[in-house]
Amino acid sequence: MLEDNWTGTSTVPSRNLYPHQWSWDSAFIAIGLRHVSPLRAQTELETLLNAQWGDGRVPHIVFNPSVPLDAYFPSPDFWRSSTAGRAAGAPRTVQTSGIVQPPVHALAAWLVHEADPGLSRARGFLARVYPRLAAWHRYLLHRRDLGGGGLVSVVHPWEQGMDNSPCWDLPLSRVAPAPARSFRRADLAHGAPGDRPTDLDYGRYVRLAADYRDGGYRDRPGGGHGAGAGAFAVEDPAFNALLIASEHALARIARELGAAGTARHARARRLTAALVRRLWDPAAGMFLCRDVRGGRLIRERGVCGLVPLLLPALPREIAAALVRTACGPHFGLGGAVRLVPSHDLLSPAFDRHRYWRGPAWFNVNWLLERGLRLHGRPGPAAALRRAVLDTADSSGFAEYVDPYTGEPRGAAGFGWTAALALDLLH
Ligand code: DGY
Repeated sequence: MLEDNWTGTSTVPSRNLYPHQWSWDSAFIAIGLRHVSPLRAQTELETLLNAQWGDGRVPHIVFNPSVPLDAYFPSPDFWRSSTAGRAAGAPRTVQTSGIVQPPVHALAAWLVHEADPGLSRARGFLARVYPRLAAWHRYLLHRRDLGGGGLVSVVHPWEQGMDNSPCWDLPLSRVAPAPARSFRRADLAHGAPGDRPTDLDYGRYVRLAADYRDGGYRDRPGGGHGAGAGAFAVEDPAFNALLIASEHALARIARELGAAGTARHARARRLTAALVRRLWDPAAGMFLCRDVRGGRLIRERGVCGLVPLLLPALPREIAAALVRTACGPHFGLGGAVRLVPSHDLLSPAFDRHRYWRGPAWFNVNWLLERGLRLHGRPGPAAALRRAVLDTADSSGFAEYVDPYTGEPRGAAGFGWTAALALDLLH
């Protein structure tokens, strides 16, 4: 499958639905590829980082010029990166989107290095990617602290990656949708409408992306209390947890390159403390998203609020509460479901088939399996690992599945599903 989706320099998430290079997909795919071709895994990450903008952002899509424009929406002529993104330093040689995705890349780079340190050293892999990864984190920490509390905000649901999560319903309700006739969706040619976001969601996605583009992809940090935020700004626990995990990985990379790495570990611990301060909700027993514009926590329980289990410096009682919540009625781990769903099973917004409103995703379950192992729960971790492997196989490496039955939904032959199953086999 990974062979089928390989283009020569990177891997597409899906030949039909997502025919270009996606940022966080590539990071997860590299984590699997390292077991079969460490060289290919290094190339995957370097291709993505070659499209980095001058201000440090790593774009969420790098477009393949040989794919027809109408194969995916929004296409390069919508984003207009080389003109609209000029002031932010968009590259001239390649077309990209102008928003970002979760920063899994430094974690991926470290894991890829570990798979074959000899090859990595011989090729100078870490020495080449380190300054780029450091600039990427700098961009997020300095340009995207829109809430003024030390965490990163996303300015579009596509940036967080869980596009139509019920967690975004409240902040998105303030966004006037672009008229339906002003754009044409390409995803419905390949995905069932009941598995995908709605037209109203898309209208809002288009409005937010177009406004950001028309503002030259400029960020306005530092206002405090959301003063610098546009129509949509959310501090999300999964995005920030992945940044922190990657910051710990950057510390290891720095050490491998001969530096101390202690300042980075200390920064990761400070960020963990900010995450707890701003997003931990003791009553819910999990992390919640913060609506920066509205200045309050969003009461929906998305699986994003369990992802910080990945963090080594999490206080012990918080890790224990996260495990209890994952295994309780809202997420059903080890009980009602085969895999952890993307949203609260008890929420009226839960929909077992619709994209990120309930289906189970393989990257999230892979992250939770890591978190369970890290925090001393080998039994539940082993059971989850088995369930991920069985369901990946029985679903034909689906993009996502019904969390109760494992029935495949979305695209078949999905890149990170195959890659992360491969990783769990090793
Ligand atoms: C899509 O097109 O569905 C993606 O999630 C946006 O990156």
